[in-house]
Amino acid sequence: MSGPKPVAIVTGASSGIGEATARLLAADGYRVVLAARRLERLEALQQAIAAAGGEALAVRTDVGHPADVQALVERTLAAYGQVDVLFNNAGFGRTKWLDELDPEKDILPQIQVNLSGTILTTRAVLPHMIARRRGHIINMSSLGGLMATPTYSVYAATKYGLRGFSDALRREVGVFGIKVSVVYPGGVSGDFASHTGMQRKSQLSTPRALVLTPQQVAQAVRGLVRRPRRSLVLPWVYRLVVLFSELFPSLNDWVQEQIFTRPERGMK
Ligand SMILES: NC(=O)c1ccc[n+]([C@@H]2O[C@H](COP(=O)([O-])OP(=O)(O)OC[C@H]3O[C@@H](n4cnc5c(N)ncnc54)[C@H](OP(=O)(O)O)[C@@H]3O)[C@@H](O)[C@H]2O)c1
Repeated sequence: MSGPKPVAIVTGASSGIGEATARLLAADGYRVVLAARRLERLEALQQAIAAAGGEALAVRTDVGHPADVQALVERTLAAYGQVDVLFNNAGFGRTKWLDELDPEKDILPQIQVNLSGTILTTRAVLPHMIARRRGHIINMSSLGGLMATPTYSVYAATKYGLRGFSDALRREVGVFGIKVSVVYPGGVSGDFASHTGMQRKSQLSTPRALVLTPQQVAQAVRGLVRRPRRSLVLPWVYRLVVLFSELFPSLNDWVQEQIFTRPERGMK
C-alpha cells in the first residue's frame, strides 16, 4: 500500500462479528475506528490490535444517538483525515411475539439502532466520501432481511429496511465512485442470542452445520472490502431458501406456521 493507510469505521466492534472484522481489517493494514457503547471492550481491542502491529482508535458511540454518530465521524476525521470503509454492523434483535414486545424497551430501540443508526452513520460520512469521490459502505442486514420468520417481525422490519436503504443509496452514490454492499448472514454463534429475550417452548433452532462463527462472517466482510459486491448471503445455500420463499409465498406461510408458530404456541 502506498500513501496513508486506509481507514475503516466498524460499528458494533465490541464483540462478535464487528470485533472479528476489526481485527482482520487491522491485519490488512487498515487504521480501524472501533465504535460501540462498551468502551472498556473497545479499548482492550485497540490494545490487542496495537500489540499485533496495527492501529486502532476506540470511540464510545451509541449509534442510536445522532450526536454520538456525528462525534464518531468528526473524531475519525480529526485523527486520521479520511474514511475509506464504513461497516455499519451495530445491531441487536428482540425476538418475541409482537404483542409481547415492549414498545419502549424492544421495538423503538431496535429501529433506532439497526435502521436509524445505520442511516445516520452513513449520512454523517457521506459528504466526506462524496468529496473524495471514493468510499465503501457495508451494511449488516440478516437472512431476516430477506425472509421474515415469526417472532422476528420488528427485527425483520429493520433488516428489510436496510435492504431498501442500501439499494437506493447505491443508486445515489455510485456516480461518485462510492460502493454500497449488504451482508445477509443466517444464524451466527456468539452474544447475539443472549440479547434476544427469546424463550422457546420447542427445541427449534438452526441446524448446527448452518450456524456461522463471527470469524467466518468477518472473513466474508474482508472479502467484500477487497472486492466490493452488491450483496452477500451467508451461507450460500440460504439463497435457495429465499428463492423458494419468493416463488411459493403461500407454501412458505404454511411451512412456517407448521414448523414454527404451532409448536411454539403449543398448538396442533
Ligand atoms: N448473530 C446472528 O445470528 C446474526 C445473524 C445475522 C445478522 N446479524 C447482525 O450482525 C450484527 C452483529 O451481531 P453479532 O452477532 O456480532 O452480535 P453481538 O456480539 O451481540 O454484537 C452486537 C454489537 O452491536 C453493538 N451495539 C448494540 N447496540 C448498540 C448501540 N446502541 N450503539 C452502538 N453499538 C451497539 C454491541 O456493542 P455494545 O453493546 O458495546 O454497544 C456489539 O458490539 C448485528 O447487526 C446483527 O443484527 C447477527
